[in-house]
Amino acid sequence: MEGITLEEMRYPMKTVIIYAHPSEKSFCHAVKEACVQQLREMGHEFYIRDLYAMNFQPVLYEDNYSQFYQNKLPEDIAAEQEYLGWAEHLILIYPTWWVSMPAILKGYIDKVLTNGFAFRFVEDSAEGLLNGKKAYIFQTTGQAQKLLTSKQLTSSVETITDLGIMKYCGIETMTHKFFYSVPYVDQEEREVMLNEVKEIVQGI
Ligand SMILES: Cc1cc2nc3c(=O)[nH]c(=O)nc-3n(C[C@H](O)[C@H](O)[C@H](O)COP(=O)(O)O)c2cc1C
Repeated sequence: MEGITLEEMRYPMKTVIIYAHPSEKSFCHAVKEACVQQLREMGHEFYIRDLYAMNFQPVLYEDNYSQFYQNKLPEDIAAEQEYLGWAEHLILIYPTWWVSMPAILKGYIDKVLTNGFAFRFVEDSAEGLLNGKKAYIFQTTGQAQKLLTSKQLTSSVETITDLGIMKYCGIETMTHKFFYSVPYVDQEEREVMLNEVKEIVQGI
């Protein structure tokens, strides 16, 4: 590895986990714990933004809405932007709710990925401002894989999230991993899934 010192190879990566699930009994919670364990083993620096624990207020009201366009931000949103600005890697963990993400996470995206921070308008298009950052998405589902894929329900979710949101802001989605039929799988299958989580995080 010419030109890269051993120290640089060991450079601890900066990761932010954005976690959106209200229950500690959920599989998403187990996924978050698996990520944390793996990141610790790898010596990565990381922060967790646990949106329910933070009581994050997701609704973009008029005051924030005007600020969205004026680029004057409330303090809590500016703090979230600092986390995201600092991160090289983003791990998103959430369940599928109505073929989408929970409202609290959608609201986080509405309020935090602002014009001037995450993107800027260029003539009739937009330019991402978070280039170089990478996303790893873990999304659980209640329905079975064959039911969802046969109706393009997972591919449409990928288009919206990975392209419409992440790529729009310059963030490359490295993995969008769906864990299917989560309420119906046994413990053994859950362990297999959690090992997959650790392998993906190991690849960061
Ligand atoms: C409000 C709500 C909406 C849901 N909508 C969907 C859906 O559109 N598609 C689906 O596959 N599962 C849906 N589910 C089931 C959840 O996705 C499933 O229970 C969850 O992913 C399991 O993971 P968890 O243990 O981490 O919650 C929904 C559940 C809730 C509470």
